[in-house]
Amino acid sequence: MGVRSLAYIRIEAQDLDAWRSFGEGVVGAAATAESDADTLFLRIDDRPWRFCIEKGSRDHFIAAGLEFPTEEAFREGVAKLRNAGVELTDGDAATIKHRQVKGMVMCQDPGGNHLELVWGNPVAGTPFVSPAGVSQFVTADMGLGHVVFPTDKYEETRSFYKDLLGFGDSDEMRVMLPDGPEQGLGMSFMHATGPRHHTVAVTEFPSPTGLIHTMVEVSNIDEVGLALDRAVKAGVHISSSLGRHTNDKMISFYMRTPSGFDIEYGCDGIQTHDWSRYTPTVTAKEDLWGHTWDFGN
Ligand SMILES: [Fe+2]
Repeated sequence: MGVRSLAYIRIEAQDLDAWRSFGEGVVGAAATAESDADTLFLRIDDRPWRFCIEKGSRDHFIAAGLEFPTEEAFREGVAKLRNAGVELTDGDAATIKHRQVKGMVMCQDPGGNHLELVWGNPVAGTPFVSPAGVSQFVTADMGLGHVVFPTDKYEETRSFYKDLLGFGDSDEMRVMLPDGPEQGLGMSFMHATGPRHHTVAVTEFPSPTGLIHTMVEVSNIDEVGLALDRAVKAGVHISSSLGRHTNDKMISFYMRTPSGFDIEYGCDGIQTHDWSRYTPTVTAKEDLWGHTWDFGN
């Protein structure tokens, strides 16, 4: 029993006001009452928060919280990492309280991406009300969504998630870039034990912000379209037009967050409830349609 889902992400940002108006007005997440001048907590469901944006001197990804479903699974996972010689830092009482979990350890994957491995299922106890009128984000046992990490140790990083954290292959592709290597750049999409097609993907793409993108899912195409309208109206950079991915069938667009990485905003991603019957795919063409990229500046 490995990691079930993505619990949360933490981000360092220079401009929390920009994040607040983007998070609330465009994404449709709700800033919580615990937010202050140094920290912005955004919630999208019954969890107390899913995004923690911390004021700092740069715009950069800090860490992803990966969640085990039970204390037993967490202990098993931590033991596996320890036996493999992965350097672990136990979360202290203040950190555990801040994350509102029951237990946590911190480590890095071989690509240097920071992870917080947690267990505990905090419930806010008050209903989530989207300030932008989003009816629902698709979360629960699917988790927050997914993250795509850069790595310069591609195979080693894949093995870390698969052999130590219980992930499995969902799909792999090689992305050809005009000035890129002849064999393309590897992209590996891996599922946790929850039904989401991929919770973590790793790629040989570099990323100055430490994260290629994160994804949130809403319940229908109208919610995606409305988010696109809000983004355009707010002058947010649209990194990719609407499209449907070949592998997870997500219909989505991508927009630039105030921290420089993208958020994929989509619906209709496939769910797999019995991974033992799933055969990983190798995708030759990334999209069934759409997803025209504008990397901007
Ligand atoms: Fe994605």
